[in-house]
Amino acid sequence: MSASQGPVGGSARLNTRVAHNARVWNYWIGGKDNYEVDQRVGDQVAAMFPVIRDVARADRDFLGRAVRHLTADRGVRQFLDIGTGLPTLDNTHEIAQRIAPESRIVYVDNDPIVLVHARTLLTSTPEGATDYLDADVHRPDSIVEGAAATLDLGEPVAVMMLGILNFVLDTGQAQDIVRRIMAAVPSGSYLVLTHPTTEADLGGEGNIEAMKFWNENATPPITARSRAEITAFFDGLEVITPGIVPCSQWRADAGSPAVLPQFGVVAVKL
Ligand SMILES: C[S@@+](CC[C@H](N)C(=O)[O-])C[C@H]1O[C@@H](n2cnc3c(N)ncnc32)[C@H](O)[C@@H]1O
Repeated sequence: MSASQGPVGGSARLNTRVAHNARVWNYWIGGKDNYEVDQRVGDQVAAMFPVIRDVARADRDFLGRAVRHLTADRGVRQFLDIGTGLPTLDNTHEIAQRIAPESRIVYVDNDPIVLVHARTLLTSTPEGATDYLDADVHRPDSIVEGAAATLDLGEPVAVMMLGILNFVLDTGQAQDIVRRIMAAVPSGSYLVLTHPTTEADLGGEGNIEAMKFWNENATPPITARSRAEITAFFDGLEVITPGIVPCSQWRADAGSPAVLPQFGVVAVKL
């Protein structure tokens, strides 16, 4: 594990007086790695914006479909999962290595509770590899440098940024982070993204009040973006079918998936 575990290791940095995103997200998807403060704030947000639990579950389901598609249908064998979140039943390496045991995965998060649970993410197959970086998305160059210890950056990488750019409040900075990371990986690499939106046709107006409440009561501060702002993250990349759609609808298995205010997109670097 390439995590900074010394005096500022995970458990020493835990703050259970303020709700943290990784723990509230875990609460919304039905996990147990959260505290009373996370449940209270999570319930308050859900009372204001009831679809948030569906958004969190749909986002995880999108992760599963995207990783399966990239591994099984597009031959991707390397994943850089930034803003990993707390381990759940099916994490990126488990999904990818079930299909291709030689897959290599680097996880990145900066929340101390994710660091505490990171061992669960390091259960690689013998043929593959996993690593965990305790790092901040605002420092993309150090993420690339850390990832290079495990990933071969001369071969394609799926860069997973699910529910993470919404914590980079400045849109120009968020675009720059994507540009820098995608510049460090070769043609044939992918950008996999989910992002909350304010678009009214997807029910996104509710994000505005709910995120205002979040920013006054929890950490880290969050923002939602318009369709146009999210589309701009894919400048210079080719978005694959079905395009820029609610994550619930991206290559959905069957039925009529809900329309949710969270985009899910996969694009390839040509
Ligand atoms: C909404 S959760 C998404 C988890 C997972 N990617 C998913 O889609 O289910 C966002 C994650 O990003 C992490 N995060 C927030 N700000 C971050 C930052 N500046 N650097 C690295 N990770 C961050 C949080 O700790 C949390 O685990």
